[in-house]
Amino acid sequence: MRILLAAALLAGTAAPALAQTGTGTPAPILTTPDARDVWTHAQPQVARVTHVALDLDVDFAAKTLGGSAVLDILAAPGAKEVVLDVNDMDVSAVTDASGKPLKWSIGPKDSANADIGSALTVELAGAVKIRIAYRSKPGATALQWLPPEMTFGKKKPFLFSQGQAILNRSWVPTQDSPGIRQTWEATLRVPGDMVAVMSAEKLSGDKGEALPDGRRQFRFRMDKPVPPYLIAFAVGDLKFKSLGPRSGVWTEAPMLDKAAKEFVDVEKMIDAASKLYGPYRWGRYDMLVLPPAFPYGGMENPMLTFLTPTIVTGDRSNTDVVAHELAHSWSGNLVTNATWSDTWLNEGFTTYFENRIMESLYGKEQAATYADLDWDVLQREIAAGGGQTGAATRLNGEPGAGEVDYTKGSNFLRMIEYTVGRAKWDAYLTSYFDRHAFQPQTTAGFLADLRERLLKGQPDLELKLQLDRWSYGAGLPDNAVRVHSATLAKVDAKLTAFNAGGPAGAVQPQGWTTQEWLRFLNGIDRQQTPARLKELDAALGLSASGNAYIQSAWFELAIANHYDPAVPYLRAYLSRIGRGLLVYPLYKGLMRQGDWGTSKARDFFAEAKPTYHPSTAAGIARIVAPDAPQE
Ligand code: BES
Ligand code: ZN
Repeated sequence: MRILLAAALLAGTAAPALAQTGTGTPAPILTTPDARDVWTHAQPQVARVTHVALDLDVDFAAKTLGGSAVLDILAAPGAKEVVLDVNDMDVSAVTDASGKPLKWSIGPKDSANADIGSALTVELAGAVKIRIAYRSKPGATALQWLPPEMTFGKKKPFLFSQGQAILNRSWVPTQDSPGIRQTWEATLRVPGDMVAVMSAEKLSGDKGEALPDGRRQFRFRMDKPVPPYLIAFAVGDLKFKSLGPRSGVWTEAPMLDKAAKEFVDVEKMIDAASKLYGPYRWGRYDMLVLPPAFPYGGMENPMLTFLTPTIVTGDRSNTDVVAHELAHSWSGNLVTNATWSDTWLNEGFTTYFENRIMESLYGKEQAATYADLDWDVLQREIAAGGGQTGAATRLNGEPGAGEVDYTKGSNFLRMIEYTVGRAKWDAYLTSYFDRHAFQPQTTAGFLADLRERLLKGQPDLELKLQLDRWSYGAGLPDNAVRVHSATLAKVDAKLTAFNAGGPAGAVQPQGWTTQEWLRFLNGIDRQQTPARLKELDAALGLSASGNAYIQSAWFELAIANHYDPAVPYLRAYLSRIGRGLLVYPLYKGLMRQGDWGTSKARDFFAEAKPTYHPSTAAGIARIVAPDAPQE
């Protein structure tokens, strides 16, 4: 049996643990070899966490979260201890529910990958609930503490967490593996003039509860079992604007109206997504727009998607990111990659689903512009990953996320759609999400399900699809589907003229979406003279563009040509924007330019490092000092 159900796991001891969680049967875990997570210390078959209750004080001065985590433990008969994940955390005591001390120890840090952190082993002595008193460190890798200057309001600090992939163990002592789902609740105490939000149901209203000491307390509950990387919070000078019966946006006041305008269609997106692949199961869908230091385009924290402000471009052309994070409410948050080697099950499915949402709302042509542009990214990534035989181009492979998981993964599903037909495929996918809801999944599990439910008795179809080649092989199989956008074809015509020496003034980009800009800028021949770059910048306003995507694509070209007039803009950009997708290519580009670039990469990073999320800072450190020990 692949799925180990709690009842079977527990035989005699299940009842008390279940009674205490009060949430019914805990979510199943997978025990097949392909579901073994090499990035956790947990041994969930022996003892696992089913519920987490956090009680934390947020201390902006000390940059710590301090308090306790009470964990419900489901242990196999005879299990003596439970193993948790922690990374650089100050644990002061572990007791049972009655306060009786339990024996505990923290093992050495994993030397191969420091982010894995250490095992916190607790002797259970029969306990089904354990209480850990602890404090996070100021350098906790999930947390970014922003000074007021880095916020929109510039008056109050800001704090947020980013859990994916294995960062939450720096502030939540639990089993931090995507295959070990847990329900959770939390109480956060924050300064009296600030607001806390979390990826869960609010129990204490939008404003929280005033405490006698002048602080505010916010309480939350997630009663659906989620993988722990989805536990998230933010604290800031936040305001809320409703956008529909079950949706709205949180952000700082100076961003609120802009964000609300940009995301006005979100309720329609929820409807479209539900119509495609089954009911939205999470209640509310709110969004939080963070300061520009936020390291991702978006993060699918349940009930509260976290978003970069760089997608607020005034023309709604980057709301595909919202569609993406919303789609994760099915692919990722309902059906979850069992390990980070199967990231494509989260990101590839979601990228496919996202495009279907965009098509539902805005039609085939607009959806095609996103898909066509993704094709360009896919081609670049396959080439960068070693081409048709490159191991880095495989979907099921090394743990971690790469662009291939998104673009090759979504292309895989589009190919299935085109081959079996949309009606059959959509019906299958709807049933897939439903049947595997709140469960982990592996590549092999998906393929077995697909074969059983969609392909049985159709050997011709099976042959056509090349499922194993797509899932486990390198490169791009020859049945990949390329979607063509007429909108981008028009841009290509202008690009051809420009690359043939035509004047920049003839480009006429008025009204271009971000996607048209990107097609144009990324298609410009890489070798340009300073005079030509000057002409381009003057005609198109690139260095000082208010659109961070345009700036990033322009800086890539400027860097490749050592174009000095763009450098002050580049430098300011790197200290303001923390989104990896936009800044990594710039550091990589600089590092390819000999002394001219490497010195700048290192100087600008030294300057900008305090403005980056710890995981982004670590990623850039690896780029600018490839030989430095990874820490
Ligand atoms: N879950 C990811 C973000 C992520 C990936 C965090 C890997 C940590 C490790 C999120 O859903 C995502 O894919 N964001 C994209 C946007 C998307 C439209 C491609 C991003 O950040 O750019
Ligand atoms: Zn995603």
